[in-house]
Amino acid sequence: MTQDELKSEVAKAALKYVTPGTIIGVGTGSTANFFIDHLAGMKDSIKGAVASSIDTANRLKRHGIPVINLNDVDEISVYIDGADESDHKLNLIKGGGGALTREKIVAAVSHQFVCIADETKLVDSLGKFPLPVEVIPMSANYVKRQIIESIGGNPVLREELTTDNGNLILDIHELDIVDPQDLENRLNNIVGVVTNGLFANRGADILLLGSQNGVNIIKS
Ligand code: A5P
Repeated sequence: MTQDELKSEVAKAALKYVTPGTIIGVGTGSTANFFIDHLAGMKDSIKGAVASSIDTANRLKRHGIPVINLNDVDEISVYIDGADESDHKLNLIKGGGGALTREKIVAAVSHQFVCIADETKLVDSLGKFPLPVEVIPMSANYVKRQIIESIGGNPVLREELTTDNGNLILDIHELDIVDPQDLENRLNNIVGVVTNGLFANRGADILLLGSQNGVNIIKS
């Protein structure tokens, strides 16, 4: 199977975590896009979806799936989204597509977070994938200096990208992430940081991993 076929298979396997009659959260990226396309086949069984990005909202709407504003929702049964990396404890790096802040908000509201990924995303230790950090535009250089001084790694401004929230992204290269939860907290404490792409305080509950031998289920 190609990587896209693995993504499609794992996205399809996530349908069984969708509780009929509820509102679900839907993530962003190529794997989440496969999920949206599969979800279209059972769209009448859910009340609607909260989207983690404008792109996802548009794709949901194209399939006729109702998109619901998060402020109109008290609870979300399950959040289904991809990841750039997952370790074996289901701490994640996300934000390769720049949607990390809205993804983290929707994940926080959801009872269950089901991560869907192909087998290349499972790693022993996070950090080979550059860690995205969303920053208020005027703070970009300050945050960059603070990261170099107090965190380490090599923060690089992502060129020609403005997030759905009107902000910028710094990608931290060459990070060796020993304690994901501690790093998530320390980065979020830098003034000007909106949030970062470590999902450790709220990691995934279940990882569905697409492999050549089928979909493996890993629980946190
Ligand atoms: C979007 O901002 C990201 O968090 C994505 O969920 C992540 O980059 C995974 O994307 P793919 O499914 O395209 O690999």
